[in-house]
This record gives sequence, structure tokens and C-alpha cells, in this order.
Amino acid sequence: MPLMGLGSLAVHFNSTQLLHTRTVTLHHHHHHSLSLFPPPLTLNTTTPSSSMATHFQLSETPQLQSSPSIPISPHDLLIVGPGILGRLVAQIWRQEYPGCQVYSQTATTNHHEELSKIGINPSLKWTKASLKFPYVIFCAPPYQSSDYLGDLRLAASCWNCEGSLLFTSSSAPYDCNDNGLCDEDSPVVPIGRSPRTDVLLKAEKIVLEFGGSVLRLSGLYISFLEFYKGAHVYWLEKGIVESRPDHILNLIHYEDAASLAVAILKKQFRGRIFLGCDNHPLSRQEVMDLVNKSGKFSKKFENFTGTDDPLGKRLNNSRTRQEVGWEPKYPSFAHFLETI
Ligand SMILES: NC(=O)c1ccc[n+]([C@@H]2O[C@H](COP(=O)([O-])OP(=O)(O)OC[C@H]3O[C@@H](n4cnc5c(N)ncnc54)[C@H](OP(=O)(O)O)[C@@H]3O)[C@@H](O)[C@H]2O)c1
Repeated sequence: MPLMGLGSLAVHFNSTQLLHTRTVTLHHHHHHSLSLFPPPLTLNTTTPSSSMATHFQLSETPQLQSSPSIPISPHDLLIVGPGILGRLVAQIWRQEYPGCQVYSQTATTNHHEELSKIGINPSLKWTKASLKFPYVIFCAPPYQSSDYLGDLRLAASCWNCEGSLLFTSSSAPYDCNDNGLCDEDSPVVPIGRSPRTDVLLKAEKIVLEFGGSVLRLSGLYISFLEFYKGAHVYWLEKGIVESRPDHILNLIHYEDAASLAVAILKKQFRGRIFLGCDNHPLSRQEVMDLVNKSGKFSKKFENFTGTDDPLGKRLNNSRTRQEVGWEPKYPSFAHFLETI
């Protein structure tokens, strides 16, 4: 799948992350040594939906609240948090439903121009207007919001209950830290143990109560031209990492997470919990051995030095695959490395 406009995603990195990522380069057979510095914007402005987007008065005009007359069609989609995942979802969604409109809600106006250019009608306040959408996906991470649960409630209340409501949560709440097996139905940590899992579990509860569904995602990663994101990039940049090497982690490529989210949206489930992972759990050490052995990166990872931090878990999402009818394009991190 071509990653239309993904170059623009790189502007999410704050300057510290940019500095961190700038020195790692990728040896690539048909690009000159690619750096992790984001590429220039490569926005595709020629799609039918991007030209249609210009019909709308976008976002911040106060009149939006009093003019709920925007015609919403049965396959229109609202993406709350159109970051890396949200934009990939938009791209697949438009392939599935040509001519549909994709709307998005952000935390700031920082990326509105680029979102408009790729046909994702941005606003700061769709969810505060009286508009209702047939498909709503909430894929904003918690760290940018002072009221994440309030944001979830607003997003859920602008779902018209026809298509689907989906929240992309995390696999972090599964209560396992001995590298044991976990699946969709494994127990989660009790509320009160950690603020990080509390906010996710409370957010999930809101969405489930509205009849929406939850997709718990494992560690996301991607590379596109000079843009890279994932734990391995962070560790490679650091070289030496104070975490234990034998902690098992679980991964899923951003494109696979997006195709899974779209497949779930299309099936119009109600109140279900799904899990997104590639079923190839790896220890931190195995991930970085693969990175070092790939010969694709100019830097070498040195080592993990931790000894007593918690272990991880081995996720399996066979139930999700079967119920949703989905398989990943990248069956493992090793396969992914062969493609870059
Ligand atoms: N990264 C991982 O390994 C991982 C693992 C498990 C689950 N997840 C989940 O996967 C999802 C997608 O992550 P991602 O990496 O694609 O995110 P990302 O690229 O960081 O996306 C951030 C986007 O969300 C917007 N945003 C942030 N807070 C918002 C809010 N409260 N309301 C509306 N918009 C908001 C930002 O707006 P601006 O344009 O204004 O900045 C930006 O468009 C998230 O739900 C995340 O929690 C991630």
C-alpha cells in the first residue's frame, strides 16, 4: 500500500526527538544513506476527496456550532487524533469507500494545513458541535490531553450509532509481567495500580458503555523513506539502554494496525475488545539483534543493562484474527526489516 502523504507525519516529532533521531542512518539499496530526519512534505493533493474537502468551511469558525447542516453520508468517518495511525486509517477508508468524507479532530491547529491537503477535513471541535457521524475512530494518545476521558465521552457522543465507534487502546493493561502468555480475554490490572493503565481502562469503559469497541494495540512501528518510529529506533539512538534485555515485547506495524482498525470498523461490532499484535513476541535483545544483523542501519546498538525491571508478556490475537477476518501484512519484525 503506498503511504500517501506519510512524509508529513514526521512533523509530529518534537525537536528533542528530531535531535535524537537525526544521527541514525539507514543503509538502503535505492536511497542514499537515509537519515532519520523527516523528509520534506510529500502531500498528495489530487485525490477526489481532497478536492471535495474544499467545499467545506473547515473547523474553527464559530458558525460551525450553529450550522449542523454539513451533509454526513453513511460511510463518512470522523478520526479523533489523525496522527500516524489515523492518517493510515483515512487512506484505507477512502480506498474502501471512494467518495466518502473523512473528518478529523486534533488537539492543536499545528497540522491542519497538511491534513486539509490530504483531504482529511480537520477541526478542533467537531465533537462539540451537534454533528453526528456514522463511523468514529478515536486514535489520539493520552499524553496530549488534560481531559482524555472527557475527550472520549465527547467523541462517543457524536457517534450516531449506525456504523461503528472504535477506540485504539493499548495492550499495557493486561496484567502479566512474567513474560507469560496473554490473549484478548486475559485479566487486566485492577484500577488504582498505575495512572497509565487507569486512564486507558476508564477510557475503554466509556467507549464500551456507548456500544463502541476497543482495539488494544501492542508496540507500533513504521519506516517510510526517512521517517522512522518505534522502540527499536529509540534504543538504537541511545545505544545503551537501562532496561533488562529479556523483557518480551509485542509489535505491530502501523499499516497493519490501521488495516485491522478499518476491518473492525467495517464489521460494525458492538461492545467488543480486540487485540492488535503480530503474534511474534520478541525480547528486547532479540529486537536489537535483528536490527544490528539487518545491516540496514549505520549505527550499532550496544546493550541493555537493566536487571530487575519487570518482564513483559507474549500476546496472541488468534481470536481477533478469526472474528475480524484479518491477517497482518508484516507477520513479524524480522520480515519488516527485510523490506526496508
Ligand atoms: N505508539 C505505540 O506504540 C502505541 C501502542 C499502543 C497503543 N497506541 C495508541 O495508538 C493510537 C495512535 O497513535 P499514533 O502514534 O498514531 O499517535 P500520534 O501520531 O502521536 O497522533 C497524535 C494525533 O492525535 C491528535 N491528538 C492528540 N490528543 C488529542 C486529543 N485529546 N483530541 C484530539 N486529537 C488529539 C494530535 O493532534 P495535533 O495535530 O494537534 O498534535 C495528532 O493529530 C493512540 O491511541 C495510541 O494511544 C500506541
